[in-house]
Amino acid sequence: MIPESYIQELLHRVDVVDLIDSYVPLKKAGANYAACCPFHNEKSPSFTVSPTKQFYHCFGCGAHGTAIGFLMEYSGLGFIDAIKDLSGRVGLPMPEDEGRPRQDGPKIASLTEVMARAAKYYYEQLKHSEAAISYLKRRGVTGEIAQKFGIGYAPGGWQNLEAAFADYGATELQAAGLVIKNEQGRLYDRFRDRVMFPILNQKGEVIAFGGRVLGEGEPKYLNSPETPLFEKGREVFGLPQARAALREKDTAIVVEGYMDVVALAQHGVGNALATLGTATTATHVQKLLRQVDRIVYCFDGDNAGRKAAWRALENSLEALPEQKSIGFVFLPQGEDPDSFVRAQGTAAFERLIAQATPLSDYLLRELATHCDLTSAEGKAKLVADAKPLLGRLQTPLLRLQLVKRLAEVSGFEQAEIERLCDLRPVARPAPARAPRQAPSLLRPLLRLLLQKPALAQRVPLGALPNNSAEARAVRRLCEAIRAAGDPPPPYAALIERMRGEGSESESDETTLREAAAELMQHPFAEDDIDAEFDGAIERLSEGEQKRAFAALQEKIQKLGVAGLSSEEKQQYLQALAGRGKAG
Ligand code: UTP
Ligand code: MN
Repeated sequence: MIPESYIQELLHRVDVVDLIDSYVPLKKAGANYAACCPFHNEKSPSFTVSPTKQFYHCFGCGAHGTAIGFLMEYSGLGFIDAIKDLSGRVGLPMPEDEGRPRQDGPKIASLTEVMARAAKYYYEQLKHSEAAISYLKRRGVTGEIAQKFGIGYAPGGWQNLEAAFADYGATELQAAGLVIKNEQGRLYDRFRDRVMFPILNQKGEVIAFGGRVLGEGEPKYLNSPETPLFEKGREVFGLPQARAALREKDTAIVVEGYMDVVALAQHGVGNALATLGTATTATHVQKLLRQVDRIVYCFDGDNAGRKAAWRALENSLEALPEQKSIGFVFLPQGEDPDSFVRAQGTAAFERLIAQATPLSDYLLRELATHCDLTSAEGKAKLVADAKPLLGRLQTPLLRLQLVKRLAEVSGFEQAEIERLCDLRPVARPAPARAPRQAPSLLRPLLRLLLQKPALAQRVPLGALPNNSAEARAVRRLCEAIRAAGDPPPPYAALIERMRGEGSESESDETTLREAAAELMQHPFAEDDIDAEFDGAIERLSEGEQKRAFAALQEKIQKLGVAGLSSEEKQQYLQALAGRGKAG
């Protein structure tokens, strides 16, 4: 018997993406990786690998599993041999003696703590640095704004954090990206002699830093590496600080730089946020559009800024729901939002934002600049160039609008464009993969549990209906998670845990796989999970009350009120009263 803890550790060390990639070259596809499925014949890739959840799923043939499962299925190895193979790859000896000490990586909570302490330290240091203070003053940053953003200073010198942490050698400091170990094993601070901008998550916890040199120097900004706390493509700078202004204006202004956000805030434009030296991702867009109805991109008036705008457009298309809008502001050459607002003032900047170019205008204008619209070839090229972009749009109305305008400019008929671009009639919903039952209330619950297994402790199993596949799957999953103890195992470990639990559970397994596959395409935002969960549980217990009420009514019909026990009568009366209130 291979102990469960060993399997967990193994799965933790292996990267399923690397493993599969070494057999079947994978391509990045959004948050996941994709390839043509090695387990069935296909021309377009429906085989998808989730780096975060460490499993693969084929939307074509349903193949599904962990790194262990992949080796078994792909190489025809047995369970034990697949484990042996993996253990060799990652250098984790098979457990012969149980005495081997288990080493765990640092926990998220301790990393958060480390970051908070470092931020406090940098913040304190700013007060003692004439040079940093005068740099910020020169850039027009007041003390009030510096405080609002928690701006700090990392002093020169190599091991300043020794002053803030009793154990400078603690692995947490390295895992948090604050301390670096060189090849000789010497430890030193990542951030030295830099103005420090803490990056906060939605909860307001420090998850990373950006550090700017005072004056000239390379790199101008040094950012934290990606850590368990910090995934660049998901986070923006300035979110908690912008919250009130976002609500008030219902618009998020996305800019490129830390200093743009700070300068705008300084000038009373509080609803600006910056992506962190990366392109705007669909995740960013989704995250922001949950809070506001409108995003305006305002990038630098240089080549890089224009490129960034186009990337932002591409990535916005798939994340853009109906009723939400996106605009683009192009600053004059050589300007960024920081310099513009300082030179021209708040009103001028707000005017730019109000007059932003709508996404569809920008899209068509940009495509048109690459086509000679006086020639038939140029017009055809325009439609061909538009094709991949139209395909990404999920919103029928916006798509229709674009198709109409493409028709005007290109001289093609609307229907011809739709056919050339392989667009299905807009009224029809996205192609169904397989006939599927109406999504049950429990489906979201299942996905929530798969994303955050710790929630299993809070599911009232008694309130689950007992007639649906989803309910069985939820129950089974909760039991597996609870049995595994604390901390709850990630999804990949759960798959292995439930391996071979008997065939009576075949259909539960399918349900679980489907839910995991859905999750892979549409994960919940970390910050929404708890609220979503509470909602799901509430709906669940409402359902339970309805069921109980219906059962009592049935009994009354058969036996009359006299057939109820006094307790049941009480329940019935209470339920009636409750319904009166709700209705
Ligand atoms: P910019 O070079 O436009 O800097 O980079 P900026 O914001 O105008 O900076 P200031 O005004 O000179 O202080 C825009 C953003 O790109 C990322 C940072 O997030 C920066 O705010 N960046 C830039 C880096 O991560 N590293 C760099 O070396 C430069
Ligand atoms: Mn700037």
